[in-house]
Amino acid sequence: MKTVYLETFGCQMNELDSELVRGHLESIGYGFTTEPGDAQILLFNTCSVREHAESKAYSRLGIVGKRKKAGEDLVLGVLGCMAERDGVDMLRRYPQVDLLCGPGELDKLPMLIDNVARTSTFADDEASEAGRVALAGNTSRRSAALSATKDDLETLDLARAFDPDRATSAARSAYVRITRGCNKFCTYCVVPYTRGAEVHRPPDSIVEECRRLANAGVIEVTLLGQTVNHYRYHHGVAVTIDGRESPQIGPGLKAFRNEPIDDAGVTTFAGLLARIHDEVPELARIRFLTSYPRDFGDDVLEVMASRPRICRYLHVPAQSGSNRILKLMNRGYTVEEYLEFTDRVLRHLPDASIAGDIIVGFPTETDEDFEATKDLLRRVPFKNNFIFKYSPRPGTTAIDRFEDDVPEAVKKLRNNELLALQAEIGAAAHADWIGREVDVLVERKTNYHRRTSVPRSSADERVSLGSGITAKRDAGGDAGPDPVQISGRTKGDLITVFDVADDATADAMIGGIARVKVNGSGPLLLRGTLLEPAESPMNYR
Ligand code: SAH
Ligand code: SF4
Ligand code: F3S
Repeated sequence: MKTVYLETFGCQMNELDSELVRGHLESIGYGFTTEPGDAQILLFNTCSVREHAESKAYSRLGIVGKRKKAGEDLVLGVLGCMAERDGVDMLRRYPQVDLLCGPGELDKLPMLIDNVARTSTFADDEASEAGRVALAGNTSRRSAALSATKDDLETLDLARAFDPDRATSAARSAYVRITRGCNKFCTYCVVPYTRGAEVHRPPDSIVEECRRLANAGVIEVTLLGQTVNHYRYHHGVAVTIDGRESPQIGPGLKAFRNEPIDDAGVTTFAGLLARIHDEVPELARIRFLTSYPRDFGDDVLEVMASRPRICRYLHVPAQSGSNRILKLMNRGYTVEEYLEFTDRVLRHLPDASIAGDIIVGFPTETDEDFEATKDLLRRVPFKNNFIFKYSPRPGTTAIDRFEDDVPEAVKKLRNNELLALQAEIGAAAHADWIGREVDVLVERKTNYHRRTSVPRSSADERVSLGSGITAKRDAGGDAGPDPVQISGRTKGDLITVFDVADDATADAMIGGIARVKVNGSGPLLLRGTLLEPAESPMNYR
């Protein structure tokens, strides 16, 4: 059987997709390698959100193209959002690409790989193209086709083979999808086109997946959706295979504290959070990404406040501090509404951390608009903000409607200015914690003290880990008497570093929750001393 190299670009959705793809391929006998040179099948799970993300993937395609030209017998597959956005056009422009598989079609990947192997001698033959391409195209917004594909995809999520033995410590954290796709159509964004229409997974499937992950040793789940707070699952009836309607809800749900299904027969995001918290007590932490600043009800905040194992962390991108720009972006809220929301969060959850994303240089953004964005940053105690320069994306409304008229030099300047401002704001948000005690989910050794280079995780590991946070032991390091630095995250997602005596102590603590006294901070992290060592809460290994 051939060996696969799988590299992932883009967001957490893609990391999760790669984990599922890997599990699926492994279950039918494929082996995986972290060395592209050792693989005969090279798969790139790609991202289209900004041009930069695409150019990284294109450069990989160039490298594989050269190897193929030099005579190597390789299968090259492009998966994910770029495949969906570029479509078959990519096969023409990059003849080295053998197969394309959109994010909504990943369950078909083994078949595509098989087809390529069978038709490899006719790789240029248009007739073979059909068997090598699986894209949702615009069909993903047609409901019949939609439900068919989503059912197959649901199987992929449900068949998830989580293997704690293969995983390193960080794998005690896992992603769980709650919503696919997006219906918001922010004017700059490709996601509604690449991921298709918004579909919410059934709450029973989600709770069951969380339970199975917990049984496999996972102690933290991160629920994923483009706008998690818009999660809504309509219960009622489902059509069974033989065409009869049957109730979808089993008995017993009423036993839970917060009625998880409201009067209209809907499980809301608040209800879902409550169910996961209450029904899977083995999970030490429940997090979620990404929140949308609109329609985030007090019900969610109340569920968070009353349930201690739900993290006090909200990633809720503002994108801009100018109402005029927000309108052009079609975000559907004003700065005042954003601030009303963040104030409300901090009233309900005084310990909450707030993070976000900002786009600078959106078409027509003036100095005044940019000043308004800086004002917004000063107004909210953001622990961090990812700052992006506007990148016009083919297929979006913004590229058709607006000229990309903010010069690159201005975008760069604004980007740097915001980074500097965010560093100050982040420093203040972190400094607030000095003198307090925090619970830290220990993730990895960092060893900044002794080692000049921080060990880099391989792409393959990143794929299997989900959270993307991992470090291998540096084989070159000596196990001297120096203290070992380890890092983890608080319930508010604040990175925290502290020292322990030696490597063995560190190893024993990874994956557990340690009590730490905070005595220092920086723009992006807390420093502390260990009060109570972490004990792995379960028999792991
Ligand atoms: N669903 C999330 C965001 C998903 S995309 C939300 O609505 O908040 C992640 C981030 O990429 C966005 O928050 C935005 O800041 C950035 N982004 C998306 N499209 C972009 C583009 N065309 N140019 C620059 N940044 C972009
Ligand atoms: Fe893109 Fe807007 Fe959907 Fe977020 S909410 S994924 S920015 S369209
Ligand atoms: Fe990129 Fe697709 Fe995620 S475009 S950000 S990989 S949803």
